[in-house]
Amino acid sequence: MKVNLRPVTAADLPTLFDQQIDPEAHHMAAFTHRDMHDRAGFVGWWGRVLELPDVHARAIDADGALAGSVLCWPSDEGLEVSDWLGRAFWGRGVATAALKGLLAEVDARPVFARAASDNRGSVRVLEKCGFVEVGREVSHAEARGAAIEETIFRLG
Ligand SMILES: CC(C)(COP(=O)(O)OP(=O)(O)OC[C@H]1O[C@@H](n2cnc3c(N)ncnc32)[C@H](O)[C@@H]1OP(=O)(O)O)[C@@H](O)C(=O)NCCC(=O)NCCS
Repeated sequence: MKVNLRPVTAADLPTLFDQQIDPEAHHMAAFTHRDMHDRAGFVGWWGRVLELPDVHARAIDADGALAGSVLCWPSDEGLEVSDWLGRAFWGRGVATAALKGLLAEVDARPVFARAASDNRGSVRVLEKCGFVEVGREVSHAEARGAAIEETIFRLG
């Protein structure tokens, strides 16, 4: 698929909400921080994110359709990235292309990322973008209702 990044706008939020309201996606991502059915909370969170000057939030356009989002924000140790795609777009190289695109836009390094250790898709995307594992932690995963292992990755 042809993948392009562009700024997220308020008009994207209904589709991004529909894409995140997916139990399988929440199970994969595991370390979610909100009730996936809370539309107002989702829209409010994005509204705050889009106001932050140091956040790179990009909508992922795949063959002309909104496939999901990729985000880069300042964290304690450097920058951190994450991504989320609608299920219809999984398994077609879209997240890998989108994260590579975002990393080309953002010069600063290091960049960190975290993934549930059993989220094979997310782990592979990070590895294919050059991230290397730097640690593992066990902490509470909201979407699993249990403590699970998370792998920490670093680029640069
Ligand atoms: C994780 C996610 C972003 C992967 O996106 P994607 O576009 O399907 O990933 P890609 O197509 O770029 O795949 C990259 C690699 O991961 C592999 N992969 C993708 N999904 C996989 C899965 N569910 N299980 C095992 N491998 C998987 C692909 O085979 C590919 O590896 P390969 O080139 O060695 O064959 C997507 O599934 C998603 O949005 N999931 C829900 C939210 C989430 O987990 N976000 C990440 C939070 S940390």
